[in-house]
Amino acid sequence: MATLRLGDIAPDFEAETTQGRIKFHDWLGNSWGVLFSHPADFTPVCTTELGTVANYFKEFEKRNTKVIALSVDGLDSHFKWIKDINETQNTTVNFPIIADENKRIAELYDMIHPKANENFTVRSVFVIAPDKKIKLMMTYPASTGRNFDELLRVIDSLQLSAEYKVATPANWKEGEDVVIGLSVKDEDIPLKFPKGSRRIKPYLRMTPQPNK
Ligand code: BEZ
Repeated sequence: MATLRLGDIAPDFEAETTQGRIKFHDWLGNSWGVLFSHPADFTPVCTTELGTVANYFKEFEKRNTKVIALSVDGLDSHFKWIKDINETQNTTVNFPIIADENKRIAELYDMIHPKANENFTVRSVFVIAPDKKIKLMMTYPASTGRNFDELLRVIDSLQLSAEYKVATPANWKEGEDVVIGLSVKDEDIPLKFPKGSRRIKPYLRMTPQPNK
């Protein structure tokens, strides 16, 4: 297994999920995608994570982003656990969970880090663009539930910089000023960024978020 890097094509696979058998790339279609693993079904932090993702489903939909979870448990276990998630997190799990009992996909995506745990997947997250390229990879330990607001924030940033020659500064949030890309010449700024700009340094030029 080669190490996955940003910009690589997300490996394609076929898998059984709680919403039927899928071919990953076909399932993604022209959407953005989030593939995330969790260590195991019927564990407390994972229960809150999947409940949170289910409660954020509309936020992902707004961003044309499909979400899919994975653990090395089987379908029966997933179906039983979904009932618990729905009950305890006051939600309806409406995205598929991959059953990866033989760890085929976990290994394809390097989601098992043997020094953390030999048997279970770590908390990996991959954001995949419509061209199927990996745009973000995050790895969290089993003891820390992920921040899904941060995931939405990164998707907003990625989608913005896919459309405009901009990047987003530290702690940026939707609606705040953004950084003009280094490839944009000063003289082209007024045409490309008609909302105005601030030239703080030759390499640090800010503009209001272009699509707001
Ligand atoms: C949890 O989801 O709570 C968890 C899973 C595996 C190890 C530790 C915690």
